[in-house]
Amino acid sequence: DASDIEKGTYPHYMLKEMDEQPGVVRKIIQAYEQDEELVIEQPILDAITASDRIYIIAAGTSYHAGLVGKQYFEKMAGIPVEVHISSEFGYNMPLLSEKPLFIFITQSGETADSRQVLVKIKDLGYPTLTITNVQGSTLSREADHTLLLHAGPEIAVASTKAYVAQVAVLAIAAYVTGKATGKAIDFDLKQELAIAANGIQSIVDSKDVMEEIAADYLKTARNAFFIGRNLDFCLSMEGALKLKEISYIQAEGFAGGELKHGTIALIEEGTPVFALVTQEQVALGIRGNVKEVVARGANACIIAMEGLEEDGDTLIIPRVHTLLTPLVAVVPLQLISYYAALHRDCDVDKPRNLAKSVTVE
Ligand code: G6P
Repeated sequence: DASDIEKGTYPHYMLKEMDEQPGVVRKIIQAYEQDEELVIEQPILDAITASDRIYIIAAGTSYHAGLVGKQYFEKMAGIPVEVHISSEFGYNMPLLSEKPLFIFITQSGETADSRQVLVKIKDLGYPTLTITNVQGSTLSREADHTLLLHAGPEIAVASTKAYVAQVAVLAIAAYVTGKATGKAIDFDLKQELAIAANGIQSIVDSKDVMEEIAADYLKTARNAFFIGRNLDFCLSMEGALKLKEISYIQAEGFAGGELKHGTIALIEEGTPVFALVTQEQVALGIRGNVKEVVARGANACIIAMEGLEEDGDTLIIPRVHTLLTPLVAVVPLQLISYYAALHRDCDVDKPRNLAKSVTVE
């Protein structure tokens, strides 16, 4: 539908696409719902339950969604998962399990690095599933199965709503698998996704806060760090990628505990450090890391989930199920990157040197 791909009154596609995220989560719930229950097609469920190990193959933001997906399949369905960068997998294939299933995560369905792996895996005769936003795309056509993201066209080069959709669809696939194999953890994913959609809504409704954070922390920054533990570590890498892509600020995502093994040497007076605190079991640990960087002069922006907040935190985000925090916590990071890029006069929708889908290796 043409209105989907027009900016309307928005100054940038990226802003429009970030705003669409609550709707995307709701659309996904509908698309995967049958008789009030979340479902995936039986042949796909059979392919997943038949596998003894899942290999997720992806690039860029989709790779970061894959890191979250690994936790979902392991925790909700009891299936071990490896996540690989497409471009590395081709020449450095790991030893495979007996019954591998390959899951390709790709917004466009056209990324050459990922397709090259798909071609190789099909030659080897292993089952394949593509999770994509584009029906009829190359990786969708060439894989045995497809799960669609239902995010609507994503035009801005920096991926936002596709990441949220990927995480939501991975959660559904893992959850439905867990129910089928009896390994499910006891929670109502449909309801929790609806709560997450509301959480995202309240964040996109308070953009001025993120604009202020971008001004306070990033206006003149040369570099920035994102730290987190567990799922917040997966997210810290996506937060850093978003910032790099559109604001050209050198940014890295790190595991909180790994800081002391090298990266902390880079902390100087005023270095921005974005610390994510959404995981209760590691909240103390990441708070400790914040103290360490602040003691060395860092300008720490603490983004905590409701219930885990402390006095002095910069931003409190709505509480959601502990497994779904990346869905919600990614949104302030996207918005902070967006405003940082604007403040620095960067071309938000078409950053230099980047393409929306990279169809060459
Ligand atoms: C390009 C885009 C990234 C994207 C990556 C993977 O590099 O600039 O935003 O994450 O490709 O794209 P895919 O379509 O396979 O998810």
